[in-house]
Formats: sequence, C-alpha cells, structure tokens
Amino acid sequence: MSQIRVGVIGYGYWGPNIVRNLYALGTCEVAVLCDTNPAALQKAGRVYPSLRTTSDPAEVLFAPDIDAVAIVTPVWTHYELAKAALENGKHVFVEKPFTSTSQQAEELVELAAKKNLRIMVDHTFLFTGAVKKIRELIDNGTMGPLYYFDSSRINLGLFQHDVSVVWDLAPHDLAIMDYVIREKAEAVVATGSSHFNHLADVAFLTIYFPNNVLAHINVNWLSPVKVRTTLIGGRDKMLVWNDLEADEKVKVYDKGVNVTSKEGVYDLLVSYRSGDVWAPRVEQTEALKAELAYFLDCIAGGKTPFNDGEAGLRVVRMLEAADRSLAERGKVIPLS
Ligand SMILES: NC(=O)c1ccc[n+]([C@@H]2O[C@H](COP(=O)([O-])OP(=O)(O)OC[C@H]3O[C@@H](n4cnc5c(N)ncnc54)[C@H](O)[C@@H]3O)[C@@H](O)[C@H]2O)c1
Repeated sequence: MSQIRVGVIGYGYWGPNIVRNLYALGTCEVAVLCDTNPAALQKAGRVYPSLRTTSDPAEVLFAPDIDAVAIVTPVWTHYELAKAALENGKHVFVEKPFTSTSQQAEELVELAAKKNLRIMVDHTFLFTGAVKKIRELIDNGTMGPLYYFDSSRINLGLFQHDVSVVWDLAPHDLAIMDYVIREKAEAVVATGSSHFNHLADVAFLTIYFPNNVLAHINVNWLSPVKVRTTLIGGRDKMLVWNDLEADEKVKVYDKGVNVTSKEGVYDLLVSYRSGDVWAPRVEQTEALKAELAYFLDCIAGGKTPFNDGEAGLRVVRMLEAADRSLAERGKVIPLS
C-alpha cells in the first residue's frame, strides 16, 4: 500500500503536536493543513515551508487524494467535520472529547461502520507508559480485585471559553478509568460550581461500577498548584501515579487490610499490611507518536482501534451524565 495521506484540520494549541508527530513518524504524508485562522497557517508555514495549507476545510474533506483526516479543532466543530470526512470516505482521528452529544457520537460510529472506516478518538494518555503499566498490573492480577480509582487533575487555568472544566479535563480521566477498570460504569454523580461565567470551573465526579468499585475525579481550574495524581486501590496492592514525577511516575505499595473473618470487621479484628514499595519501569516514548503510529497501522491493517468511536462515545455519555447531575446538585444519573 502506498503511504497514507493525512489532512489535518486545526493548528491552535494541540494541532502542532499532531503535525509534528505525523512528520516525525515518516510513514505517512501530511498532505494538507487547514485552519480558518490565517495566523495559525503562517505559524505552520514557518516550521513546514513545503506543507500545503488552506483556510477552507472543504479542501481537506472533499479532496479525493486524502485517506484520513485529523480533526484538532474545538469540540463543537468535531461532529460536522468528522461527519463530512466519513461521508467522503476518509478515516478520522478526532480530538477528545469526541463530540458535544452522545447522539452525535452514535451517529458517527454508525456512519463509520457503514462505510467501513476507522474512527480513533485522541485519548492520548492511554498511550503513555504509565497507563500501559497500570493496565498491565490490573490485568495480570497484581493489584487484586479493585476497590477504587481516584484521580486529581487540577491547576490554575487554562480557562476555556466554550467548555466547562468537566468537558476540558475530565475526558482524560474518564478515558483512563474506562481503559483500566474495563467494566461498564453504572451511574454518575457530579457536583461543581462556576465562579466567572455559566461554565463550571471546579467539579467533583463520582462514577459507580459493579462490584463496589468506585471512581472519583477531581477537576479544577482554580487550584493554586498543579496536581496530576491518580490513586488506585486494590485488595492486594495499591498504587499512586504521579504524572508530574520525571522518573518513578508509578509506585506500587504492598499495603492493604487483612480481615480474617466476616466477624473480624465488626470486632475490628483487622490487620494492616505495610510491605514494600516499588517503582516499575515505565516506557518513556511520546504517547501521541505511538498513538498516531497505531492509527496508521489500524488504517493499513483494517483493524478497529481500542480507542475507537465506541470508546469516545462512552466518555461523552459520562460527560453528559455529569452535566445533568451537576445541574441538579449531585443527583445520581444512571447510565443506560
Ligand atoms: N489530547 C490532548 O491531550 C489534548 C490537549 C489539548 C487539546 N486537546 C483537544 O484538541 C482540540 C483543540 O484544542 P486546542 O486547545 O488546540 O484549541 P485551539 O482553540 O487552541 O485551536 C483550535 C484551532 O482550530 C481552528 N479552527 C476552529 N474551527 C475550525 C474549522 N471549522 N476549520 C478549520 N479550523 C478551525 C482555530 O482557528 C484554531 O487555530 C479540542 O478538542 C481539545 O479538547 C486535546
């Protein structure tokens, strides 16, 4: 098969990372870059003088010689752009969150299936060495049955004008949670508040899973410090992932609670286990590069990526449920 020709739409904050990695891979051709903002195209032109640019998305979406489109624009534009790309026979790499509504996501998933095209949703963290290692530790039984997943993604800003902190930051945690817990979430509870406009800038999400597995996600644009920490508790091991650590991002603790009999809980006849701590080696490659390589691989091999439209849809459903719960000050919203 000849080199896959990719068109990129959107060269704002995140788009340059997509273009840079596609170039770095060297296994595809970046055929055209589109942005409606001429300043963005000028910026790209300085870095890639031979890259063809356009301010008209139609030149990417309708181009007969383009195989795949990367959509790196604000979320409210994803549906229209992805739909046009799929209708014109192009595979789609689309930024998180996949779409603004679950109905849009369902429609795109159906359209891609009908046309036998791939959708990949950029859940970048799933390609980090840390998340891969965490999934491995859960899958190979090291952690034992899970008790909880507790994630904090907080910092000062960057305030977004079109989405709340839930839609901006929580897609990362929801995608990671979905990937490592691998159970169907049952219900969502969210509380939060907005201090500057109608969009929440602080929010706390709780997600209920079968077998008493509980997830909690704290997202906040009004934190004085930056925190990127996830705690996962299992019966046999507990782990802390601090993504701000340069090395030893993941630490596994042989800590836990041993209860010898059911009565032991009532009599507080429990013993606390406090064993070794170890830091497994985690891969250090750039996640986005690995993800884009996988995208090209899925197109070439006709494979469905694990971070496909369905995975994007699951995250959007949880975001929608969080919005509904937040509007009702923490009402439990079941996920059907
Ligand atoms: N995966 C990640 O870690 C990650 C990180 C940051 C942002 N994102 C996602 O990437 C997307 C873009 O975010 P951003 O921060 O780069 O936004 P941004 O506003 O900085 O950039 C978006 C760019 O798209 C252009 N644009 C908007 N509508 C367009 C259209 N219809 N056609 C062509 N160009 C158009 C704008 O001119 C702008 O240059 C969002 O969905 C965001 O959630 C993902």
